[in-house]
Amino acid sequence: MLNRNTAICLIALCFISFLFMFSRNTCNIQEQYGISLLQLPFFSNSTESLKNISGLVSLQPEYVEPLTPRPTPSKEEVPDSGDDEVVGGESAMSYFKKLSGSIKDFINSRSGSGEKINVLAAYSYKDHFSATISIPKKIGTIAYCRYVGADGKEVAEPVLSQIYPFFVVYCSRRNNVTTLGITGDKNELISTENSVKLIRRKFKEYQHNVSFCLAPIYGKEPKWLHFVELVEHYKLQGVNKFFIYIREINEYDRKLIDSYVESGEVEIIDIPGTVADVIAQQLMAVADCLLRSRTFSKWSIYADIDERLIMTDDRITIDGFLRTITDETIGSIAFPQRWIMKRDLLPAKFENDEQVIETMPTRAWHETTSAALKGHPVCNEQQSCWAKDIVHNEKAIRMLVHEVETFYPGFRELFLDPSIGYIRHYRDVTMQSWEHNNVANLKKFGPFSNTTYPPTIGSKLLKNVFSRLHRVYN
Ligand SMILES: *[C@@H]1O[C@H](CO)[C@@H](O)[C@H](O)[C@H]1NC(C)=O
Ligand SMILES: *[C@@H]1O[C@H](CO)[C@@H](O)[C@H](O)[C@H]1NC(C)=O
Ligand SMILES: *[C@@H]1O[C@H](CO)[C@@H](O)[C@H](O)[C@H]1NC(C)=O
Ligand SMILES: *[C@@H]1O[C@H](CO)[C@@H](O)[C@H](O)[C@H]1NC(C)=O
Ligand SMILES: *[C@@H]1O[C@H](CO)[C@@H](O)[C@H](O)[C@H]1NC(C)=O
Repeated sequence: MLNRNTAICLIALCFISFLFMFSRNTCNIQEQYGISLLQLPFFSNSTESLKNISGLVSLQPEYVEPLTPRPTPSKEEVPDSGDDEVVGGESAMSYFKKLSGSIKDFINSRSGSGEKINVLAAYSYKDHFSATISIPKKIGTIAYCRYVGADGKEVAEPVLSQIYPFFVVYCSRRNNVTTLGITGDKNELISTENSVKLIRRKFKEYQHNVSFCLAPIYGKEPKWLHFVELVEHYKLQGVNKFFIYIREINEYDRKLIDSYVESGEVEIIDIPGTVADVIAQQLMAVADCLLRSRTFSKWSIYADIDERLIMTDDRITIDGFLRTITDETIGSIAFPQRWIMKRDLLPAKFENDEQVIETMPTRAWHETTSAALKGHPVCNEQQSCWAKDIVHNEKAIRMLVHEVETFYPGFRELFLDPSIGYIRHYRDVTMQSWEHNNVANLKKFGPFSNTTYPPTIGSKLLKNVFSRLHRVYN
């Protein structure tokens, strides 16, 4: 006679086969938009199938996130390479020069504006250096790499480079360099504005499997409630490192962020007011976070303060999901958008638990759009239809706000089926008259429906949010 476990196993297997055979929706989406979708069992939204899948999950423990503490990764570094980085069979410097495209005369191209270059950060990898600058310059603009040693003197000849991608200057590696300068002119004096100490990024082992890069914080709406919800949401998803870019923030909100800095979960990157355009400002942060995360974190989530990426089956965490990705050609995973109408501003100060229950975005708001799928006519020139990416940091060369624009050779985007994962984007409806301007188009993705943040993680989330708020503000 079959024992009980074997029987459950057989039932589960039969049902999975059944799901595979009849996952018609997945096929339709594929036919309609000609995109590749991940071949995982298709989870329909009936509770019956979830019960069945539940049996399978318990039989395959590696499919769920165990959330057990892992050993601290070693800080050991790979040795420096004597040779420059090679991409697609040629030196990275010339490969990027080619990518930067239209600029024919590399030597004589002029900078986009007369403003002197400021450096935000610089990184030392095993086979090159890279810097992020904080002055917007056209791609292809000339820039010189300046190599400064511990005694403040230049230790090597300046090297000609250029801006590529946006806000980034790639430099050959030189020995005995502690500070990297970037100047528009070979002879310009090196100062604290145009040079910065190198941050080492040559870890043998990833320090994190998945971390988070937040788009620059600015603007008047109070941030504390969004921020605590964001961090606690992603911590439940297995993320425990956050790079937070701050343009402006009030003291009250900063206090909360500082509490996560103390615990080592958050690093703040203060950005100067040198980039007036907010999209350009976000491009700068994205470019910097990509460089900052290389060798440090395998995957990074690049998203905004009001976006909560989530797996549709809430028993699977983002970290757990990423560990099922075995196809090494996947360089980024695009999570489709589902906007949720947020019809009120967030409160200015923490008063009590009831206030949080009533106003916390994941509890307060439910009106949800259908998922915006890549290739839909409404997306127009929006390549990935406003998706947000989880990026394998060593596979991407150039990122925009919503997608990786250029991969290292051989890597590609996977656009996720929303039945596997998507973004719950708690979008303020009044900001920039967003709802008024967009509601008609949003309906073209399909009907709106009322959806709920999964109650199982929702209760843990609420508990963790309370605990943090009491610690910081009481
Ligand atoms: C999900 O549920 C909605 C509402 O109950 C239903 O209209 C829709 O067809 C379901 N989708 C699937 C894939 O079962
Ligand atoms: C799984 O679903 C099938 C078909 O809906 C049902 O007959 C079966 O009892 C379910 N199995 C479990 C373990 O719930
Ligand atoms: C400079 O770097 C080389 C190679 O890493 C090393 O052998 C040498 O000792 C360094 N010199 C100084 C002054 O640090
Ligand atoms: C990353 O994931 C691997 C494989 O699951 C695991 O062995 C390792 O401990 C994880 N590293 C960190 C820093 O969590
Ligand atoms: C969502 O719920 C609200 C409040 O119960 C209701 O007025 C609205 O019609 C619902 N919307 C949809 C699309 O079901």
